[in-house]
Amino acid sequence: MAITMKTRITELLGIRYPIIQGGMQWVGRAELAAAVSNAGGLGILTALTQPTPDALAAEIERCRGMTDSPFGVNLTILPTASPPPYEQYLDVVIQSGIKVLETAGQSPKEFIVKAKAAGVKIVHKCTAVRHALSAERNGVDAISIDGFECAGHPGEDDIGGLVLIPAAARQVKIPLVASGGIADGRGMAAALVLGAEGVNMGTRFCATKEAPIHDDIKQALVGASERQTNIIFRTLHNSGRVLKNTISDEVVATERRPGGCEFGDIRHLVAGARGRAALETGDVNSGLVWAGQVVGLIDDIPTCEALIQRMVADCQAQLAVGRSYFL
Ligand SMILES: Cc1cc2nc3c(=O)[nH]c(=O)nc-3n(C[C@H](O)[C@H](O)[C@H](O)COP(=O)(O)O)c2cc1C
Repeated sequence: MAITMKTRITELLGIRYPIIQGGMQWVGRAELAAAVSNAGGLGILTALTQPTPDALAAEIERCRGMTDSPFGVNLTILPTASPPPYEQYLDVVIQSGIKVLETAGQSPKEFIVKAKAAGVKIVHKCTAVRHALSAERNGVDAISIDGFECAGHPGEDDIGGLVLIPAAARQVKIPLVASGGIADGRGMAAALVLGAEGVNMGTRFCATKEAPIHDDIKQALVGASERQTNIIFRTLHNSGRVLKNTISDEVVATERRPGGCEFGDIRHLVAGARGRAALETGDVNSGLVWAGQVVGLIDDIPTCEALIQRMVADCQAQLAVGRSYFL
């Protein structure tokens, strides 16, 4: 019989298992989001992967054609010289009837007010307890707390999940999702024990059959050990964790040069178009490939359904193992 679970996260998001696929630039498309939602988790489309707000509306419709289950949209708001039309993307989320928004980066209060007024639940992803508390005060519905292990931007505090998750759980009152460093039932069990009511995964979902990226990239994730990520942009105070490859090695070397480095020195290496091309062509050394330390825990490329079923069953089994130590 299929396992069912109930936490404040499953209740809030209307999902069967408290497992979320975090927003992922170039990867968070309909194929993956629908597969995760069909498997009982929450799939998330990445708004800025779509070139325009209209294209996001079309992608939402495409995803609806692939699943009847709820799915969400990620809106990542980062400081940039020429920002995309964030509010128009938000308007598309609202007008399309999407019920869950994952925000990351900044989360302007007026966006929160607008989304909530439209009945959208907001899961705000952040990397520090103080940011979680401020988002909670601003009215978000849940917090995803992203530990230093994570792919993407882990912040500048370098606090791993083993401390960050309970530190957040002690203070945050709204439902908490643990993110970063989780790839299997063991990690999920740990997250629940540390005080989270759900988990968010990025890298693990890249190595699934439905992830819309080249198979050679998935194989590179399977082949990598937990030591094979790099932290880039550290000297620019915008740290990012990516797969270790010739490009990210060169970025790190440039940053460590005596005299330091300006963004202009590495711009040609880190261009989003190069990263996208790497994912599409499978040439792992041609651009940045965002990935977390959990690459060391990934050794197959299952369907999302098989992955989620296995995780939930293993999580239950691991919790039972823990209990068995008490006589
Ligand atoms: C390829 C890739 C792209 C990502 N892009 C984004 C993004 O655009 N916005 C965002 O909020 N997080 C992004 N992330 C971070 C994930 O949503 C998630 O927080 C993170 O992967 C969790 O850590 P894990 O990889 O250890 O599971 C990305 C992660 C990956 C692997």
